[in-house]
Amino acid sequence: MQSMSRYYIQTYGCQMNEADSEAMARLLEKAGYEPSDSPEEASIILLNTCCVRAKPEQKVYSRLGELRPIKERRPEVIFAIAGCMAQKEGQALLKRIPYLDLVIGTRQFHRLEEFIHSCRQGGQRICALGLEDDPSSLRAAPLVLPASAEMNLKAFLPIILGCDNYCTYCIVPSVRGRQKSRLPDEIRAEVEALVERGCREVTLLGQNVLAYGRDLPGNGDFVSLLESLNGVDGIERIRFTTAHPRDVEDRLIEAAASLPRVCEHFHLPIQAGHDRLLKAMGRGYTAAYYLEMVERIRARIPGVAITTDIMVGFPGETDEEFEASLELYSKIGFDQAFTFVYSPRPGTAAAKKPDQVPQKTKIARLTRLIELINASALRINSSQVGRQGEVLVEGVSEKNPSKLAGRLRNNKLVVFSGKENLVGRFVTVTLTAAYQWGFAGEVRA
Ligand code: SAH
Ligand code: SF4
Ligand code: F3S
Repeated sequence: MQSMSRYYIQTYGCQMNEADSEAMARLLEKAGYEPSDSPEEASIILLNTCCVRAKPEQKVYSRLGELRPIKERRPEVIFAIAGCMAQKEGQALLKRIPYLDLVIGTRQFHRLEEFIHSCRQGGQRICALGLEDDPSSLRAAPLVLPASAEMNLKAFLPIILGCDNYCTYCIVPSVRGRQKSRLPDEIRAEVEALVERGCREVTLLGQNVLAYGRDLPGNGDFVSLLESLNGVDGIERIRFTTAHPRDVEDRLIEAAASLPRVCEHFHLPIQAGHDRLLKAMGRGYTAAYYLEMVERIRARIPGVAITTDIMVGFPGETDEEFEASLELYSKIGFDQAFTFVYSPRPGTAAAKKPDQVPQKTKIARLTRLIELINASALRINSSQVGRQGEVLVEGVSEKNPSKLAGRLRNNKLVVFSGKENLVGRFVTVTLTAAYQWGFAGEVRA
């Protein structure tokens, strides 16, 4: 009987999906289910999926195959797919996977309990994909519903659903819908509730957080939101991601510099470093603009970390354009980067282009890019050895269980020795050694 009341959620993709999974977990807990680390013991198995590139999709399909025997052994298990791949594939998933019960689109997950009920009672297979403005879906991040048993030091908080950009390579707008900002008062109330539960750090999420409020009547904008949240007692760190480089204004840099709780970290996906590519991608900025903007941020905010996303092998990318991009990245000197091989997404403009880059060339370019990024991360980190910084202690280090791990305000990882009762606290550490991934440190006595 025990297994009847447990749920298992596996999450793929970005932090938005992490936040949605967290919200679904809370909803299930409110409905009386308990979490399970293993699908074997669960009566609800849910995969929250990503389709930004072909790879995460393939991962989901192979996981579905692995999970099939569970449904064969226990047909009463509710088997569900949520997230971006669910939105993209819809009915096709129900057709392809006969043992699937539920396909939940990106703006439907707040109805999870109702869907499960229909599956259980009526034996229906459900596919819910509406992206239209359902006011309740705007409140679909009910992190504040029932408190989870564990203390959550850090939380992701979606402030915008969807995206109104149409970068030519990107599937996200078609699976996440039009931009929809949540109301400022609601966001603030949610941050206050998170603080009550022990949360000390919040990351505001959106495909482009800098577009916050543009779709709200009488609006409010991102900087005003930062100013308001900076005034919530008990929240010590405010982060945000992703910021579109095109929308970085001096007012934002000024706010990040002067608001004490807003952390010194900008994640600014550059995608490419050559103007022809940037134009073909529809990014709305030039290489020179990006470089100058980063210089402005660094001049105003000492110790700021600049991280990015970069793609190689966009259709038509020549050797010269790739080399010019590397040169720009090296001049900028990124603190860290997520690097990707371009993956054609059916239905996007770039996927239709005839001049796709061969896979072998893409891989060779990716290898060189990663080398450059690793070297620049190490170079920047090495220059910071000997400094002191404030670390929020998050727990035991994953790589070395005899050590603790936490992050600096600029989001860099620090691993150090200390007693476990430091977890959840802020400590000052001296950075003693630099690595490409972060630092070793010593807690100041
Ligand atoms: N809204 C965010 C990005 C969301 S997708 C932004 O504008 O920055 C996360 C990253 O995946 C992107 O920054 C991009 O680098 C990468 N990406 C998106 N579509 C891709 C594709 N078709 N192939 C390879 N990488 C892609
Ligand atoms: Fe995709 Fe561009 Fe929107 Fe980011 S801003 S989600 S890359 S379309
Ligand atoms: Fe993937 Fe959807 Fe995020 S496609 S990257 S999970 S918005």
